[in-house]
Order: sequence, then structure tokens, then C-alpha cells
Amino acid sequence: MVGCNDGTECAMFRRLGVERVHGVDPIEEIGSKHPDPGITYIRGAAEQLLLPDGMFDLVFSFATLEHVRDLEDAYREMARVLASGGTLYTLAAPLWYSPYGNHCEHLFRDEPWIHLRLTRDEIVATASQRGLTGEAQEAFVGQVDYMLDPRFFNRRHARDYVAASSALGLSVELEEVRMEPRALLRPDFQIDESPDELLATTHRFVAHKE
Ligand SMILES: C[S@@+](CC[C@H](N)C(=O)[O-])C[C@H]1O[C@@H](n2cnc3c(N)ncnc32)[C@H](O)[C@@H]1O
Repeated sequence: MVGCNDGTECAMFRRLGVERVHGVDPIEEIGSKHPDPGITYIRGAAEQLLLPDGMFDLVFSFATLEHVRDLEDAYREMARVLASGGTLYTLAAPLWYSPYGNHCEHLFRDEPWIHLRLTRDEIVATASQRGLTGEAQEAFVGQVDYMLDPRFFNRRHARDYVAASSALGLSVELEEVRMEPRALLRPDFQIDESPDELLATTHRFVAHKE
């Protein structure tokens, strides 16, 4: 499990009957919610898995690759630790150029692509239009700074995920880029990016190693 956070998905695999699960994540609180002798938590990064070649029947990564700085290295590492006959399952979403690629849909539901259309100060200024003051305003500004901090999102295009996964030489079961409806792209949005990238929300890749 690459990007295992507090261990919730590792625990799910255990409940499904998997005997041994390994979870990787850089955060200090890795695995904190699900201590289990059947789960080995390894604090580290997808780009350099501290694990031997060919060890896993399944390598699974959900909602993580859009945060990983070096996408190509992460894919290569996941393929490296996969056993012959093993399956790689990755899902990256929401991609940076998609309507809520800032991961703050809860704040900007009515303002798709706000992170690509407005500057940080313009976004922060919307706090007063929303009637936010005091602690609520501070929390809002904190979220805006998080979503615009390049340390947290790799800002890669959907085409980069397709290229990086295709380059692994695995047998592809499924590769899918899920697109939002075109109607979301209003004519008054001035965003210097192709519609195909702006509408690509999710990249899913499932493949096995011969
Ligand atoms: C949105 S969370 C998803 C967690 C979990 N997979 C889920 O779906 O609930 C993204 C996770 O990616 C982790 N992450 C960020 N950079 C990473 C990296 N370079 N390698 C592995 N995990 C990373 C974060 O710490 C975070 O736990």
C-alpha cells in the first residue's frame, strides 16, 4: 500500500483476508489508527521504496500519486517491487489541472479551477465575501496556502501519468482517464491549458507483471 496514511486501507486488506500487508507513507503518524502485527509500516517515499525487488503480489496506491513529487520514479519503484504474476493498481485523483485539483472541493464547490484562475491573494480575498472572520478566516487562509503549496501537489498533467505508467512494460488490464463534462468549462474562464487536461480528473491504471 503506497500512501497508506493512518493505515485504514491496510486494515481493510487485512479484513479481506490478506496475511501480510506493508504500508508506506512519509508522515510521522503512519499507521497510527491501525496497529496490527500483520501490517508492517515503513516511513518513506514512493520514489524510493525500502523494499526488495519482486516482493508483492499486489501493489496498491489510491489518491496518492498526485502528491508524489517524482511520478516516474514512483511508478518504476512500484513495478520493481511487484512479483511475477503480481498486480499493480493505482488511482490518482483529483489531478491538479482538474476542476478541484486543489483538493479543496469542500470550499470551492461553485468555483471550479479556482487554483488556476485566481492568485493566492484573490482567493484569500473571497474569505470576506463569504462572511468569514476570526478563526474561520484563519482556517480558510490555511487551506488556501496548503492547496497552493507545491510541496503537497506535483502539478503533473494527466498525459504524464499515462506516459509514466505505459513506460513500465507491464501487461495493462485497464488504463482510464476519467473526464468531467465539457459544460463545466465556462467561456469566461481564462485558463492557459488544453480542455483535455482541464477535464481529466482521474487516472486509473491496473496492470500485471508477466
Ligand atoms: C490523500 S492521502 C490518501 C491516503 C489513502 N491512500 C486514502 O486514500 O485514504 C495521500 C497520502 O499520500 C502520502 N504521500 C505524500 N507524498 C508521498 C510520497 N512521496 N510517497 C508516498 N506517499 C506519499 C501522504 O502522506 C498521504 O498520506
